[in-house]
Amino acid sequence: MEKIVSLCKRRGFIFQSSEIYGGVEALWDYGPLGSLLKNNIKKEWLKRFVQEKENIVLIDGTVIMHPKIWEASGHLESFTDPLVECKSCHSRFRADHMESGNFVGQGKAKLKNQCVQCGGKEFTESKQFNLMFKTFLGPVEDEVHIVYLRPETAQSMFTNFDLVKDSMRLKVPFGIAQIGHCFRNEITTGNFIFRSREFDIAEIEYFVKPDEDEKWFDFWVKEWEKFFLDLGLKKENLRRYEHPKKALAHYSKRTIDIEYKFPFGWSELAGIANRTDFDLSQHSKFSGQDLSYFDPSASSGQAKEKYIPYVIEPTLGIERLLLALMCDAYKEVKGGRTETTNSTKEEEIVLGLNKKIAPIQVTVLPLVKNKENLVKKAKEIYQLLKPYFMVQYDEVGSIGRRYRRQDEIGTPFAITVDFETLEKDDVTLRDRDTMQQERVKIKELINILKEKLEN
Ligand code: GAP
Repeated sequence: MEKIVSLCKRRGFIFQSSEIYGGVEALWDYGPLGSLLKNNIKKEWLKRFVQEKENIVLIDGTVIMHPKIWEASGHLESFTDPLVECKSCHSRFRADHMESGNFVGQGKAKLKNQCVQCGGKEFTESKQFNLMFKTFLGPVEDEVHIVYLRPETAQSMFTNFDLVKDSMRLKVPFGIAQIGHCFRNEITTGNFIFRSREFDIAEIEYFVKPDEDEKWFDFWVKEWEKFFLDLGLKKENLRRYEHPKKALAHYSKRTIDIEYKFPFGWSELAGIANRTDFDLSQHSKFSGQDLSYFDPSASSGQAKEKYIPYVIEPTLGIERLLLALMCDAYKEVKGGRTETTNSTKEEEIVLGLNKKIAPIQVTVLPLVKNKENLVKKAKEIYQLLKPYFMVQYDEVGSIGRRYRRQDEIGTPFAITVDFETLEKDDVTLRDRDTMQQERVKIKELINILKEKLEN
């Protein structure tokens, strides 16, 4: 894990937020490469679940919503973690993370019953702590104006259920998808970006007929797993964890977590929950607006069926997926790879990211930087490719060192401009994974790269 954290900082993926002021715990900034990677993961998710599905539409709701929503959803009452305080230094911990706590996860290390800050052994009784961040709407800071930063994106997909259904003429089963910022005032943090206080959730609320919930639950578990495998996560690093009945969230009839084998142990990457008709029923009750669905499929003469749809919710944390993808892709090659250019035989890092999500898709390298015509040609090729791909130009250091720099950030292709280029208008195209090089005509580069990056 330390190696991943160090690579992320060194190469501009992830920085601690406000680092020059000493940093803020569990808040992270995504640097130039990290933000590209994060965006690419989101793009793949949107392509898979919005573009390629026929009956799922996207919305982009607000972070701050009507405060009654959190009453209806049960978050004001139940979105809590049990908290204990060290009596000596007043550090706070999650009671269910303590050795004596009634810990309901799997494969997660428990803290010894000793304060990790001061070694104290006495703690206060556990009390429930609400994880939602509070603020005020408008200039008056009183009870009436309290609002919350959303801890999940789900709720605006329920409150907009009717508007989305009617404006898009959707029929059950259909889904509403959303990716967006969520906020949780986590008590215990750590493990890098795994448990952040500000993060992105990508989730779908899939509305189904009440008696078809189990079928669609199984469907979405498989769809979610397939997405992770297609992005490149190794099968052996994924497993399912079924929540025991007594530990289900207040809205759930059944929940399966998809866990990933992170360097710190098996932990939740994503989940699929059967939220039943809980949310739509609650919002009907609290808003006074009936959110039932009239099934138009009843044949003429038959009474139209009216019901509150059940909801199957596949959800995932984008940062957790990003971390899992980084961990899975990270390889150290002891003594260097076999490329002749690595004469020092030092250890090499290769980030074998899926080509579709790599932050930089192709790099353009003049063989040497002190030959004006070579540099000019390389810059021309860089400009030629820029409208089509995320390209980086690099002329600093030996060619072998530059390949390794790009391998370390997962760039799938490197183009080298050499003296032959000037005569024959072709370049070498190097593949990150096989290190094989082929000569390619400059005029064919765009099509060849497009094809290679797509497959
Ligand atoms: N709408 C359902 C929901 O929010 P959740 O399991 O509480 O379910 C969804 O959260 C996903 O968000 C999790 O599967 C996890 O990947 C991610 N997640 C939850 N808390 C997180 C945190 N503090 N930091 C980063 N990701 C988190």
